Amino acid sequence: MPSRSMEELASLCKRRGFIFQSNDIYGGIKGLYDYGPMGVELKNNLKMAWWKSMIYERDDIEGIDSNILTGPDVLKYSGHVDTFTDPLVDCRSCKSRWKSDQLENKSCPNCKSKDLTEERPFNLMFKTPIGPVDDGSSYAYLRPETAQQIFTNFKNVLDSTNRTIPFGVAQIGKAFRNEITPRNFIFRVREFEQMELEFFVKPGSDEKWHKYWINERYNWWVNQGINKKNIHLHSVKKDELSHYSKSTVDILYDFPHGKEELEGIANRSDFDLGSHTKNQKDFNISTKVMENQKSTTKLGVQELESKSWFIPFVIEPSAGLDRGVLAVLNDAYKEEKIDNNNSRIVLALKPHLSPIKAAVIPLKRNNDQLVERAKSIKKILQQIGVGRIILENTGNIGKNYRRHDEIGTPLCITVDFETLESNSVTIRDRDSMQQKRLSTEELKEYFKNYFD
Ligand code: GAP
Repeated sequence: MPSRSMEELASLCKRRGFIFQSNDIYGGIKGLYDYGPMGVELKNNLKMAWWKSMIYERDDIEGIDSNILTGPDVLKYSGHVDTFTDPLVDCRSCKSRWKSDQLENKSCPNCKSKDLTEERPFNLMFKTPIGPVDDGSSYAYLRPETAQQIFTNFKNVLDSTNRTIPFGVAQIGKAFRNEITPRNFIFRVREFEQMELEFFVKPGSDEKWHKYWINERYNWWVNQGINKKNIHLHSVKKDELSHYSKSTVDILYDFPHGKEELEGIANRSDFDLGSHTKNQKDFNISTKVMENQKSTTKLGVQELESKSWFIPFVIEPSAGLDRGVLAVLNDAYKEEKIDNNNSRIVLALKPHLSPIKAAVIPLKRNNDQLVERAKSIKKILQQIGVGRIILENTGNIGKNYRRHDEIGTPLCITVDFETLESNSVTIRDRDSMQQKRLSTEELKEYFKNYFD
Protein backbone atom coordinates (compact mmCIF):
# COMPACT_ATOMS: atom_id res chain seq x y z
CA MET A 1 0.00 0.00 0.00
CA PRO A 2 1.57 3.36 -0.94
CA SER A 3 1.31 6.29 1.47
CA ARG A 4 -2.18 7.59 2.26
CA SER A 5 -1.35 11.25 1.64
CA MET A 6 1.40 13.65 0.61
CA GLU A 7 1.46 14.93 4.21
CA GLU A 8 2.24 11.43 5.50
CA LEU A 9 5.07 11.06 3.01
CA ALA A 10 6.45 14.57 3.60
CA SER A 11 6.40 13.96 7.33
CA LEU A 12 8.48 10.77 6.96
CA CYS A 13 10.84 12.63 4.62
CA LYS A 14 11.47 15.34 7.20
CA ARG A 15 11.64 13.01 10.22
CA ARG A 16 14.13 10.66 8.61
CA GLY A 17 16.29 13.17 6.75
CA PHE A 18 15.17 12.70 3.15
CA ILE A 19 13.82 16.13 2.20
CA PHE A 20 13.60 19.50 3.95
CA GLN A 21 11.94 22.79 3.03
CA SER A 22 14.71 25.01 1.72
CA ASN A 23 15.58 28.15 3.75
CA ASP A 24 13.25 26.91 6.48
CA ILE A 25 14.98 28.73 9.34
CA TYR A 26 13.89 31.95 7.59
CA GLY A 27 10.37 30.76 6.87
CA GLY A 28 11.13 28.78 3.70
CA ILE A 29 10.75 29.65 0.02
CA LYS A 30 7.90 28.12 -1.97
CA GLY A 31 8.92 25.59 -4.56
CA LEU A 32 12.44 24.98 -3.21
CA TYR A 33 13.52 21.87 -1.28
CA ASP A 34 16.80 20.49 0.02
CA TYR A 35 17.76 16.83 0.15
CA GLY A 36 19.00 15.56 3.53
CA PRO A 37 21.44 12.75 4.37
CA MET A 38 19.05 9.97 3.26
CA GLY A 39 17.57 11.93 0.37
CA VAL A 40 20.90 12.63 -1.28
CA GLU A 41 21.78 8.91 -1.24
CA LEU A 42 18.41 7.89 -2.68
CA LYS A 43 18.59 10.57 -5.36
CA ASN A 44 22.16 9.64 -6.30
CA ASN A 45 21.18 5.95 -6.47
CA LEU A 46 18.28 6.74 -8.80
CA LYS A 47 20.54 8.88 -10.98
CA MET A 48 23.13 6.12 -11.12
CA ALA A 49 20.50 3.53 -12.07
CA TRP A 50 19.44 5.78 -14.96
CA TRP A 51 23.02 6.54 -16.02
CA LYS A 52 23.95 2.84 -15.96
CA SER A 53 20.93 1.88 -18.04
CA MET A 54 21.62 4.64 -20.58
CA ILE A 55 25.40 4.75 -20.83
CA TYR A 56 27.08 1.67 -19.34
CA GLU A 57 24.63 -1.02 -20.41
CA ARG A 58 24.28 0.25 -24.00
CA ASP A 59 26.64 0.95 -26.84
CA ASP A 60 24.79 3.74 -28.59
CA ILE A 61 24.62 6.58 -26.03
CA GLU A 62 27.21 9.10 -24.79
CA GLY A 63 26.92 11.30 -21.71
CA ILE A 64 27.63 14.99 -21.23
CA ASP A 65 27.47 17.51 -18.39
CA SER A 66 26.82 21.04 -19.63
CA ASN A 67 26.31 24.49 -18.11
CA ILE A 68 23.19 25.65 -16.35
CA LEU A 69 23.67 29.27 -17.46
CA THR A 70 22.49 29.42 -21.04
CA GLY A 71 22.94 32.25 -23.51
CA PRO A 72 19.90 34.07 -24.92
CA ASP A 73 20.54 32.93 -28.50
CA VAL A 74 20.23 29.27 -27.59
CA LEU A 75 16.88 29.86 -25.89
CA LYS A 76 15.67 32.22 -28.60
CA TYR A 77 16.25 29.70 -31.38
CA SER A 78 14.94 26.84 -29.24
CA GLY A 79 11.64 28.75 -29.08
CA HIS A 80 11.70 29.15 -25.28
CA VAL A 81 11.93 32.96 -25.23
CA ASP A 82 8.73 33.23 -27.29
CA THR A 83 6.70 30.26 -26.18
CA PHE A 84 7.79 28.96 -22.76
CA THR A 85 4.98 30.79 -20.99
CA ASP A 86 1.97 30.24 -18.77
CA PRO A 87 -1.13 32.44 -19.10
CA LEU A 88 -1.35 34.64 -16.03
CA VAL A 89 -3.87 37.00 -14.43
CA ASP A 90 -3.48 39.39 -11.48
CA CYS A 91 -6.15 40.09 -8.88
CA ARG A 92 -6.41 43.89 -8.47
CA SER A 93 -8.01 43.53 -5.03
CA CYS A 94 -5.60 41.28 -3.12
CA LYS A 95 -2.65 41.53 -5.55
CA SER A 96 -2.32 37.76 -5.89
CA ARG A 97 -1.31 36.19 -9.19
CA TRP A 98 -2.85 33.10 -10.79
CA LYS A 99 -2.56 30.82 -13.78
CA SER A 100 -5.77 31.43 -15.71
CA ASP A 101 -6.71 27.74 -15.63
CA GLN A 102 -6.82 27.95 -11.81
CA LEU A 103 -9.65 30.48 -11.74
CA GLU A 104 -13.12 29.31 -10.79
CA ASN A 105 -16.01 31.34 -12.25
CA LYS A 106 -13.50 33.99 -13.38
CA SER A 107 -12.90 35.05 -9.77
CA CYS A 108 -9.79 35.17 -7.57
CA PRO A 109 -9.31 31.88 -5.66
CA ASN A 110 -7.92 33.90 -2.73
CA CYS A 111 -10.42 36.76 -2.16
CA LYS A 112 -13.16 35.84 -4.68
CA SER A 113 -12.92 39.29 -6.31
CA LYS A 114 -13.80 39.46 -9.99
CA ASP A 115 -11.56 42.51 -10.49
CA LEU A 116 -8.90 40.69 -12.51
CA THR A 117 -6.46 41.86 -15.17
CA GLU A 118 -6.55 40.56 -18.74
CA GLU A 119 -4.71 37.28 -19.27
CA ARG A 120 -1.08 37.73 -20.36
CA PRO A 121 1.80 35.37 -21.05
CA PHE A 122 4.35 34.94 -18.27
CA ASN A 123 7.73 33.51 -19.26
CA LEU A 124 8.84 30.78 -16.85
CA MET A 125 12.59 31.26 -17.32
CA PHE A 126 14.84 32.85 -14.69
CA LYS A 127 17.10 35.54 -16.13
CA THR A 128 20.35 36.74 -14.56
CA PRO A 129 23.00 39.33 -15.48
CA ILE A 130 26.40 38.04 -16.56
CA GLY A 131 29.58 39.98 -15.83
CA PRO A 132 30.20 43.05 -13.68
CA VAL A 133 27.79 45.49 -15.35
CA ASP A 134 24.10 45.00 -14.68
CA ASP A 135 22.67 47.25 -17.43
CA GLY A 136 20.56 44.59 -19.16
CA SER A 137 22.98 44.16 -22.08
CA SER A 138 24.63 40.95 -20.94
CA TYR A 139 22.48 38.25 -19.46
CA ALA A 140 21.84 34.53 -19.43
CA TYR A 141 19.00 32.26 -18.42
CA LEU A 142 18.99 29.40 -15.96
CA ARG A 143 18.16 26.57 -18.33
CA PRO A 144 14.53 25.45 -18.32
CA GLU A 145 15.47 21.99 -19.66
CA THR A 146 18.82 20.21 -19.95
CA ALA A 147 18.12 19.29 -23.58
CA GLN A 148 19.25 22.46 -25.32
CA GLN A 149 22.97 22.03 -24.64
CA ILE A 150 22.72 18.50 -25.96
CA PHE A 151 21.52 20.00 -29.26
CA THR A 152 24.17 22.75 -29.29
CA ASN A 153 26.86 20.12 -28.55
CA PHE A 154 25.52 17.71 -31.16
CA LYS A 155 28.39 18.30 -33.59
CA ASN A 156 31.03 18.29 -30.82
CA VAL A 157 29.89 14.87 -29.61
CA LEU A 158 29.52 13.50 -33.12
CA ASP A 159 33.02 14.60 -34.17
CA SER A 160 34.76 13.56 -30.96
CA THR A 161 33.25 10.08 -30.77
CA ASN A 162 32.79 9.03 -34.40
CA ARG A 163 29.21 8.04 -33.74
CA THR A 164 26.76 7.41 -36.54
CA ILE A 165 22.98 7.74 -36.54
CA PRO A 166 21.15 6.30 -34.60
CA PHE A 167 22.83 7.34 -31.38
CA GLY A 168 21.95 9.28 -28.27
CA VAL A 169 23.35 11.87 -25.88
CA ALA A 170 22.24 11.75 -22.25
CA GLN A 171 22.51 14.24 -19.44
CA ILE A 172 21.40 14.59 -15.82
CA GLY A 173 21.23 18.04 -14.32
CA LYS A 174 19.38 20.95 -12.82
CA ALA A 175 16.62 22.82 -14.59
CA PHE A 176 14.77 25.92 -13.38
CA ARG A 177 11.26 27.18 -13.95
CA ASN A 178 9.62 30.13 -12.26
CA GLU A 179 6.42 28.15 -11.66
CA ILE A 180 3.59 30.51 -10.73
CA THR A 181 2.09 28.04 -8.29
CA PRO A 182 4.62 25.46 -7.13
CA ARG A 183 2.79 22.76 -5.19
CA ASN A 184 2.48 19.19 -4.01
CA PHE A 185 5.79 18.89 -2.15
CA ILE A 186 8.61 18.12 -4.62
CA PHE A 187 6.20 17.42 -7.48
CA ARG A 188 6.11 20.96 -8.92
CA VAL A 189 9.11 23.01 -7.86
CA ARG A 190 11.16 25.89 -9.22
CA GLU A 191 14.54 24.15 -9.12
CA PHE A 192 14.63 20.48 -10.05
CA GLU A 193 16.70 17.87 -11.85
CA GLN A 194 16.01 16.17 -15.14
CA MET A 195 17.38 12.98 -16.63
CA GLU A 196 17.18 13.53 -20.37
CA LEU A 197 18.15 11.54 -23.40
CA GLU A 198 18.16 12.99 -26.91
CA PHE A 199 18.24 10.04 -29.29
CA PHE A 200 19.06 11.05 -32.87
CA VAL A 201 17.52 8.96 -35.64
CA LYS A 202 16.96 9.02 -39.37
CA PRO A 203 13.78 10.80 -40.49
CA GLY A 204 11.23 8.11 -41.23
CA SER A 205 12.48 5.79 -38.47
CA ASP A 206 11.32 8.22 -35.76
CA GLU A 207 7.97 6.58 -35.02
CA LYS A 208 9.55 3.16 -34.60
CA TRP A 209 12.15 4.60 -32.20
CA HIS A 210 9.49 6.55 -30.32
CA LYS A 211 7.62 3.30 -29.58
CA TYR A 212 10.89 1.63 -28.62
CA TRP A 213 11.76 4.31 -26.03
CA ILE A 214 8.25 4.38 -24.55
CA ASN A 215 8.62 0.68 -23.87
CA GLU A 216 12.19 0.97 -22.52
CA ARG A 217 11.32 3.78 -20.15
CA TYR A 218 8.16 2.10 -18.84
CA ASN A 219 10.15 -1.04 -18.04
CA TRP A 220 12.89 1.01 -16.38
CA TRP A 221 10.44 2.55 -13.92
CA VAL A 222 9.06 -0.93 -13.14
CA ASN A 223 12.64 -2.03 -12.44
CA GLN A 224 12.95 0.82 -9.94
CA GLY A 225 10.18 -0.81 -7.90
CA ILE A 226 7.12 1.00 -9.23
CA ASN A 227 4.11 -1.30 -9.26
CA LYS A 228 2.67 -1.61 -12.78
CA LYS A 229 -0.78 -0.80 -11.51
CA ASN A 230 0.46 2.68 -10.48
CA ILE A 231 1.93 3.79 -13.83
CA HIS A 232 0.08 4.55 -17.01
CA LEU A 233 0.88 5.61 -20.55
CA HIS A 234 -0.95 8.66 -21.85
CA SER A 235 -0.85 10.09 -25.38
CA VAL A 236 -0.76 13.88 -25.23
CA LYS A 237 -3.52 15.51 -27.32
CA LYS A 238 -2.35 17.39 -30.42
CA ASP A 239 -3.48 20.78 -29.06
CA GLU A 240 -1.58 20.21 -25.78
CA LEU A 241 1.79 19.34 -27.36
CA SER A 242 4.88 21.47 -26.62
CA HIS A 243 5.96 23.76 -29.46
CA TYR A 244 8.67 21.31 -30.56
CA SER A 245 6.74 18.06 -30.42
CA LYS A 246 5.33 15.97 -33.25
CA SER A 247 3.85 13.56 -30.69
CA THR A 248 4.38 12.85 -26.98
CA VAL A 249 3.51 9.97 -24.69
CA ASP A 250 3.66 10.69 -20.97
CA ILE A 251 4.33 8.15 -18.26
CA LEU A 252 1.87 9.06 -15.51
CA TYR A 253 2.19 7.93 -11.93
CA ASP A 254 -0.48 7.75 -9.22
CA PHE A 255 1.08 10.39 -6.94
CA PRO A 256 -0.63 10.93 -3.57
CA HIS A 257 -2.30 14.06 -5.01
CA GLY A 258 -3.41 12.40 -8.25
CA LYS A 259 -2.37 10.83 -11.54
CA GLU A 260 0.30 13.11 -13.05
CA GLU A 261 3.33 13.20 -15.32
CA LEU A 262 6.49 11.45 -14.19
CA GLU A 263 8.25 11.44 -17.56
CA GLY A 264 7.49 12.64 -21.07
CA ILE A 265 8.68 10.82 -24.18
CA ALA A 266 8.53 13.22 -27.10
CA ASN A 267 9.17 12.92 -30.79
CA ARG A 268 10.83 16.34 -31.22
CA SER A 269 11.19 15.72 -34.97
CA ASP A 270 13.91 17.84 -36.63
CA PHE A 271 12.69 20.99 -34.86
CA ASP A 272 15.66 21.52 -32.51
CA LEU A 273 18.63 20.71 -34.72
CA GLY A 274 16.74 22.41 -37.57
CA SER A 275 16.26 25.59 -35.52
CA HIS A 276 19.89 25.70 -34.32
CA THR A 277 21.60 24.82 -37.60
CA LYS A 278 23.39 27.10 -39.99
CA ASN A 279 22.27 27.09 -43.64
CA GLN A 280 18.72 26.02 -42.92
CA LYS A 281 17.79 26.35 -46.60
CA ASP A 282 20.17 23.53 -47.54
CA PHE A 283 18.03 21.04 -45.65
CA ASN A 284 14.64 19.59 -46.24
CA ILE A 285 13.36 20.37 -42.74
CA SER A 286 9.98 18.77 -42.01
CA THR A 287 8.59 21.30 -39.56
CA LYS A 288 8.33 25.05 -39.06
CA VAL A 289 11.61 25.95 -37.33
CA MET A 290 12.94 29.18 -35.80
CA GLU A 291 14.58 31.17 -38.58
CA ASN A 292 18.27 31.35 -37.79
CA GLN A 293 21.04 33.28 -39.54
CA LYS A 294 23.36 33.41 -36.54
CA SER A 295 24.38 29.80 -35.98
CA THR A 296 27.98 29.01 -37.01
CA THR A 297 27.52 25.28 -37.29
CA LYS A 298 25.77 22.85 -39.59
CA LEU A 299 23.87 20.37 -37.43
CA GLY A 300 23.13 17.84 -40.13
CA VAL A 301 24.69 14.50 -41.02
CA GLN A 302 25.60 13.03 -44.37
CA GLU A 303 24.07 9.86 -45.72
CA LEU A 304 27.02 7.54 -46.46
CA GLU A 305 25.78 6.15 -49.76
CA SER A 306 23.81 8.97 -51.33
CA LYS A 307 26.08 11.69 -49.82
CA SER A 308 22.98 13.78 -49.21
CA TRP A 309 22.63 15.77 -46.00
CA PHE A 310 19.76 15.55 -43.54
CA ILE A 311 18.80 16.86 -40.12
CA PRO A 312 18.24 13.95 -37.71
CA PHE A 313 14.96 13.55 -35.86
CA VAL A 314 15.11 13.39 -32.07
CA ILE A 315 13.31 11.09 -29.67
CA GLU A 316 13.47 12.48 -26.16
CA PRO A 317 12.68 10.56 -22.97
CA SER A 318 12.75 13.30 -20.32
CA ALA A 319 12.27 12.23 -16.70
CA GLY A 320 12.01 14.41 -13.62
CA LEU A 321 14.45 13.14 -11.01
CA ASP A 322 12.60 14.75 -8.10
CA ARG A 323 9.30 13.31 -9.32
CA GLY A 324 11.13 9.98 -9.61
CA VAL A 325 12.26 10.21 -5.99
CA LEU A 326 8.68 11.02 -4.96
CA ALA A 327 7.28 8.11 -6.95
CA VAL A 328 9.73 5.48 -5.65
CA LEU A 329 9.30 6.72 -2.08
CA ASN A 330 5.54 6.62 -2.38
CA ASP A 331 5.48 3.19 -3.97
CA ALA A 332 7.84 1.78 -1.34
CA TYR A 333 5.89 3.19 1.62
CA LYS A 334 4.06 0.55 3.67
CA GLU A 335 2.43 0.49 7.07
CA GLU A 336 2.27 -3.08 8.39
CA LYS A 337 0.96 -4.81 11.45
CA ILE A 338 3.69 -6.74 13.25
CA ASP A 339 1.32 -8.29 15.82
CA ASN A 340 -1.89 -7.31 17.63
CA ASN A 341 -0.26 -4.40 19.42
CA ASN A 342 2.47 -3.20 17.09
CA SER A 343 2.80 -1.91 13.59
CA ARG A 344 5.70 -0.52 11.61
CA ILE A 345 6.33 1.83 8.70
CA VAL A 346 8.68 0.33 6.19
CA LEU A 347 10.14 1.66 2.96
CA ALA A 348 10.39 -1.44 0.80
CA LEU A 349 12.81 0.21 -1.62
CA LYS A 350 14.66 -1.89 -4.16
CA PRO A 351 18.06 -2.56 -2.53
CA HIS A 352 19.98 -0.68 -5.24
CA LEU A 353 18.01 2.48 -4.32
CA SER A 354 18.20 2.19 -0.52
CA PRO A 355 20.15 5.11 1.00
CA ILE A 356 21.89 2.77 3.46
CA LYS A 357 22.71 -0.74 2.30
CA ALA A 358 23.33 -2.17 5.76
CA ALA A 359 23.49 -1.03 9.37
CA VAL A 360 26.07 -2.72 11.58
CA ILE A 361 24.87 -2.59 15.18
CA PRO A 362 26.92 -3.54 18.25
CA LEU A 363 24.52 -5.11 20.78
CA LYS A 364 25.85 -2.97 23.62
CA ARG A 365 26.63 0.69 23.20
CA ASN A 366 30.23 1.78 23.76
CA ASN A 367 31.43 -1.75 24.50
CA ASP A 368 34.93 -1.45 23.07
CA GLN A 369 35.23 -5.03 21.88
CA LEU A 370 31.82 -5.08 20.19
CA VAL A 371 32.30 -1.65 18.65
CA GLU A 372 35.76 -2.54 17.31
CA ARG A 373 34.43 -5.75 15.78
CA ALA A 374 31.46 -3.86 14.29
CA LYS A 375 33.84 -1.31 12.79
CA SER A 376 35.91 -3.99 11.12
CA ILE A 377 32.76 -5.66 9.70
CA LYS A 378 31.58 -2.29 8.40
CA LYS A 379 34.95 -1.78 6.70
CA ILE A 380 34.83 -5.19 4.99
CA LEU A 381 31.30 -4.58 3.70
CA GLN A 382 32.04 -0.99 2.68
CA GLN A 383 34.92 -2.23 0.52
CA ILE A 384 32.52 -4.39 -1.52
CA GLY A 385 31.43 -1.07 -2.96
CA VAL A 386 27.64 -1.26 -3.19
CA GLY A 387 26.98 1.96 -1.29
CA ARG A 388 26.85 3.40 2.20
CA ILE A 389 27.15 1.11 5.25
CA ILE A 390 26.50 2.70 8.61
CA LEU A 391 27.72 1.90 12.12
CA GLU A 392 24.98 2.38 14.74
CA ASN A 393 26.56 2.72 18.15
CA THR A 394 23.34 3.50 20.01
CA GLY A 395 22.78 0.24 21.86
CA ASN A 396 19.04 0.08 21.22
CA ILE A 397 18.46 -2.70 18.71
CA GLY A 398 14.66 -2.26 18.58
CA LYS A 399 14.92 1.48 17.87
CA ASN A 400 17.56 0.85 15.22
CA TYR A 401 15.38 -1.69 13.44
CA ARG A 402 12.50 0.79 13.43
CA ARG A 403 14.64 3.61 12.06
CA HIS A 404 16.19 1.42 9.38
CA ASP A 405 12.80 0.03 8.33
CA GLU A 406 11.63 3.61 7.83
CA ILE A 407 14.60 4.62 5.71
CA GLY A 408 14.52 1.38 3.74
CA THR A 409 17.78 -0.26 4.86
CA PRO A 410 17.49 -3.81 3.55
CA LEU A 411 19.89 -5.48 6.02
CA CYS A 412 20.75 -4.97 9.69
CA ILE A 413 23.72 -6.84 11.11
CA THR A 414 24.02 -7.29 14.85
CA VAL A 415 27.36 -7.84 16.50
CA ASP A 416 26.90 -9.58 19.87
CA PHE A 417 28.98 -11.45 22.41
CA GLU A 418 28.75 -14.64 20.38
CA THR A 419 30.43 -12.74 17.55
CA LEU A 420 33.49 -12.35 19.74
CA GLU A 421 33.60 -16.09 20.41
CA SER A 422 32.48 -17.70 17.16
CA ASN A 423 33.04 -14.89 14.65
CA SER A 424 29.41 -14.96 13.56
CA VAL A 425 26.74 -12.25 13.34
CA THR A 426 22.96 -12.09 13.02
CA ILE A 427 21.55 -10.59 9.89
CA ARG A 428 17.97 -9.28 9.74
CA ASP A 429 16.04 -8.90 6.52
CA ARG A 430 13.96 -5.70 6.33
CA ASP A 431 11.00 -7.20 4.46
CA SER A 432 10.56 -10.56 6.18
CA MET A 433 12.06 -9.41 9.52
CA GLN A 434 13.62 -12.90 9.65
CA GLN A 435 17.01 -13.19 11.30
CA LYS A 436 19.72 -15.72 10.72
CA ARG A 437 23.22 -16.33 11.96
CA LEU A 438 26.13 -16.29 9.54
CA SER A 439 29.88 -16.49 9.91
CA THR A 440 31.60 -13.28 8.81
CA GLU A 441 32.94 -15.12 5.75
CA GLU A 442 29.41 -16.21 4.83
CA LEU A 443 28.21 -12.66 5.48
CA LYS A 444 30.58 -11.30 2.82
CA GLU A 445 29.27 -13.75 0.21
CA TYR A 446 25.66 -13.20 1.26
CA PHE A 447 26.12 -9.46 1.00
CA LYS A 448 27.77 -9.58 -2.44
CA ASN A 449 25.05 -11.87 -3.83
CA TYR A 450 22.29 -9.79 -2.28
CA PHE A 451 23.31 -6.65 -4.21
CA ASP A 452 24.39 -8.43 -7.39
N1 GAP B 1 13.04 18.55 -22.34
C1 GAP B 1 11.66 18.28 -22.27
C2 GAP B 1 11.04 18.81 -21.07
O1 GAP B 1 11.63 19.55 -20.31
P1 GAP B 1 8.84 18.69 -19.68
O2 GAP B 1 7.65 17.77 -19.83
O3 GAP B 1 8.58 20.14 -19.55
O4 GAP B 1 9.77 18.36 -20.91
C3 GAP B 1 10.22 16.89 -18.37
O5 GAP B 1 9.70 18.21 -18.45
C4 GAP B 1 10.06 16.33 -16.99
O6 GAP B 1 10.64 17.23 -16.04
C5 GAP B 1 8.61 16.17 -16.55
O7 GAP B 1 8.07 14.94 -16.97
C6 GAP B 1 8.74 16.23 -15.04
O8 GAP B 1 9.07 14.96 -14.53
C7 GAP B 1 9.92 17.16 -14.83
N2 GAP B 1 9.44 18.52 -14.46
C8 GAP B 1 9.00 19.48 -15.28
N3 GAP B 1 8.65 20.59 -14.59
C9 GAP B 1 8.88 20.30 -13.30
C10 GAP B 1 8.72 21.04 -12.07
N4 GAP B 1 8.29 22.30 -12.06
N5 GAP B 1 9.05 20.42 -10.91
C11 GAP B 1 9.51 19.16 -10.91
N6 GAP B 1 9.69 18.43 -12.03
C12 GAP B 1 9.38 18.98 -13.21
